[in-house]
Amino acid sequence: MRNFDEHTITAAVLERLQGAANPRVRQISEALVRHLHGFIREIEPSFEEWRAAIEFLTEIGKKCSETRQEFILLSDTLGASMLVDAINHRLPQGATETTVLGPFFVENAPDAALGADISPGMAGEPLFVEGSVSALGGAPLPGALIDVWHSDKDGYYDVQRYEQGGATALRARLRADVAGRFWFWTIVPSFYPIPDDGPVGDMLRAQGRHPYRPAHVHFMISAPGYERLVTHVFIDGDKYLDSDAVFGVKDSLIRQLERRTAGTDVDGKVVDHDYAVLRYDFILSPISRREREARLS
Ligand code: BEZ
Ligand code: FE
Repeated sequence: MRNFDEHTITAAVLERLQGAANPRVRQISEALVRHLHGFIREIEPSFEEWRAAIEFLTEIGKKCSETRQEFILLSDTLGASMLVDAINHRLPQGATETTVLGPFFVENAPDAALGADISPGMAGEPLFVEGSVSALGGAPLPGALIDVWHSDKDGYYDVQRYEQGGATALRARLRADVAGRFWFWTIVPSFYPIPDDGPVGDMLRAQGRHPYRPAHVHFMISAPGYERLVTHVFIDGDKYLDSDAVFGVKDSLIRQLERRTAGTDVDGKVVDHDYAVLRYDFILSPISRREREARLS
């Protein structure tokens, strides 16, 4: 086969894929070719534009390092991460909704006891976070593993301060108590820009978009027999709730901070300073059949 032109090239490439041994590889390759050729037909790029597109992807790759994943940022800012998340989390009614993991999760964060302060010595408005973990139907999930992480009062994560000698902070792993409850002290996080000093930031500026995410606390919660929950709790009133740079906000994940004055009681103690309280009750769904089968195979 030869002499392909703009009308015959797509069929020719699709034909070439028929030998793929793995049917999923064939399906994905076919869809990629169909959509890529459709995209090119729609935009009719000049050579200069096509070269700029390849250079953009090359710069995305060059920006990646141990601590920076520019391809994930690209996926996040194009809404692709949230689309993959939605397709993979067609959860039963009542289960807590999911959102993006983001690049600031760290495996093996330090363990913290219930009631611990995960912001020791840090400036910011004191925040008491409390809640529970239960199954659909209401049964508590004692001992559920809760990873929590969030930004500081200026919108930075600890990992972004490592290069200036910063230490691990505002992240921890807790275990829910026998009644599935958890609670800890921290500081109120701020909205923040996603890292925008690379090609994704250039893209956002060219698209006339801001890089900000509304203030939130990340949670990753696991319990045996249940789907791992990756989500955030967003703070009500944030000015970026309706324009999150990564499209991660859902109404069901927004909570209002309750403001309490010094002298009020929490966690069995009278607190001698003003503080805020954030409460969220998480509901996990049972492991899906697809995931159970994948784990067994
Ligand atoms: C985050 O919430 O930590 C985050 C999510 C997506 C991109 C950048 C940051
Ligand atoms: Fe975040």
